[in-house]
Amino acid sequence: MLSNSTLRRLASRAVRGLHRLTGRRAEVDYRRWYSTWDLQRDYWTIVGPATKEEYERLSLVKLKLLIDLGLTPQSRLLDVGCGTGLLASALHDFLDERGEYVGADIGSEAVEFCRSRFGRPNFSFHVSEMTKLPPLIQRFDFIVFYSVFTHTYPLETAALLREASRLLAPGGVVFADLFAAPLIEEYNGDRSAVEINPDYLMRLLEGSGLKADLIDIQSRPRLGQRLFYQFTLCRSDNRLGID
Ligand SMILES: C[S@@+](CC[C@H](N)C(=O)[O-])C[C@H]1O[C@@H](n2cnc3c(N)ncnc32)[C@H](O)[C@@H]1O
Repeated sequence: MLSNSTLRRLASRAVRGLHRLTGRRAEVDYRRWYSTWDLQRDYWTIVGPATKEEYERLSLVKLKLLIDLGLTPQSRLLDVGCGTGLLASALHDFLDERGEYVGADIGSEAVEFCRSRFGRPNFSFHVSEMTKLPPLIQRFDFIVFYSVFTHTYPLETAALLREASRLLAPGGVVFADLFAAPLIEEYNGDRSAVEINPDYLMRLLEGSGLKADLIDIQSRPRLGQRLFYQFTLCRSDNRLGID
């Protein structure tokens, strides 16, 4: 009987071997994509949905998930990897004038597009860096990474979560989803779809002051699982607690 760690080592080796054999490195470079894309014509396909209708449906689904976690019309929310405004469009109708929405993305064209799309005074958009959030002074009740850690490597993901912990208001929540690969030592794939061993991510977050709670699991047909986490600040000590 092979131990879990041996299984993971073997699986990681097999995946690396497969990449070498096939030469497959289909890197997704969002910054380059945005610079060549006509967002006025189609702003949904580039962030995933095949149709505008599906984009609008997902917008409401994602809003509902946050409401279930406690989002109110007065919440202050930072949407990292805001893309073309899938979540912003639902929040545009949901937040009242006491709420605040801040979107951030590495794609400057996406940020410009969102600025032209959403004109409310309590909505703003910023260009961010791969492992750094914009230099914001306010604190947020919600910091959301929807379908972002599926495109970042583990060290980048951990750096972004540490950044987020700095911007959380007391009692605030970081929400994030990721593709899980529990049989792989660390991670698998490239920016088109990064799958991570959740235990590895939790180790990278040790000492960050963030506590992780797994709140939902969705199966991806033939492709494992998408995990949804909520991270909150530990009150008393500075170590990562995992429930
Ligand atoms: C699959 S899209 C999801 C967009 C949006 N969150 C949604 O749910 O429709 C991924 C987005 O994350 C952005 N992104 C990728 N890495 C990022 C990073 N390190 N920091 C901020 N945004 C990032 C991409 O530019 C892209 O807009």
